[in-house]
Amino acid sequence: MGLNFQRLLFVFIVQLLVVAGEFFKPFNVSYDGRAMIIDGKRRMLISGGIHYPRATPEMWPDLISKSKEGGVDVIETYVFWNGHEPVRGQYVFEGRYDLVKFVKQVAANGLYFFLRIGPYVCAEWNFGGFPVWLRDVPGIEFRTDNAPFKEEMERFVKKIVDLMREESLFSWQGGPIIMLQIENEYGNMESSYGSKGKDYMRWAAKMAVGLDAGVPWVMCKQVDAPENIIDTCNGYYCDGFKPNSNKKPIIWTEEWDGWYTCWGDSVPHRPAEDIAFAVARFFQRGGSFQNYYMYFGGTNFGRSAGGPNYITSYDYDAPLDEYGLLRQPK
Ligand SMILES: *[C@@H]1O[C@H](CO)[C@@H](O)[C@H](O)[C@H]1NC(C)=O
Repeated sequence: MGLNFQRLLFVFIVQLLVVAGEFFKPFNVSYDGRAMIIDGKRRMLISGGIHYPRATPEMWPDLISKSKEGGVDVIETYVFWNGHEPVRGQYVFEGRYDLVKFVKQVAANGLYFFLRIGPYVCAEWNFGGFPVWLRDVPGIEFRTDNAPFKEEMERFVKKIVDLMREESLFSWQGGPIIMLQIENEYGNMESSYGSKGKDYMRWAAKMAVGLDAGVPWVMCKQVDAPENIIDTCNGYYCDGFKPNSNKKPIIWTEEWDGWYTCWGDSVPHRPAEDIAFAVARFFQRGGSFQNYYMYFGGTNFGRSAGGPNYITSYDYDAPLDEYGLLRQPK
């Protein structure tokens, strides 16, 4: 009887904590030149990418627990603006787009979360995640120093940060989110916008940090990222990568363990041995955070596949295949 009562009490307390939104004892995240600092301790972290709308909510718990079994500490995803706001001002956070539920399921498994808001995400996703209505905003020019664009972008990024805060999902609230991303591989594009490109990048960084999310922000492939944003590496190999300041840790936001597939092309394959070597070498040479892009690729449902001739499957030759089954030896 006593044992049963204790167990019941335990379950009750766990449920109370979950209801209160506290999955972890609240902790702060910072960094130095060696690593992310989680609750005062430098950590080497392995992350796994799962894009929530590329699976069904029924699949999420299994994908998350299999990722955990595979050894990840963190789950990473982009945020898909056109899925969340298909009509301006009408938000969708249900079904495959129930981001809050997804983050909470990750937290319930004791894993951390890396949220890449963009809101331009590329991601082999239709229009790179931009809603189609964005194109019709008068005077708009995407991803540059353009007032209508900046206004729309800020509104959505703020919406997501506020939602995460309201749901107590940041680390300092006892939630799993330890890191955020603004923009995406903008460094590749910046020079084509002239001086407006750099102004926009600086604005995006300032705007993001100004939202007071309380966890570090990164910009991937952004060699000129400002002082308070960590510039990170995406690629097949990142062992030679150094951020633009020795006060920032070496982070690999996308470790390409496979690739997307196009109609008529061969199905991409990257051997597990090559990935293991690349990752080991990254850590050997001072890396401290590495994200498998993807851990589970999944499916481009509906018309979400973006880019020339991309097929419906986003299997990606990932460690979990399109159906969520283990792909050994990965
Ligand atoms: C996190 O940092 C803030 C600001 O420095 C501080 O007020 C708070 O107590 C810290 N929280 C924890 C859990 O250490």
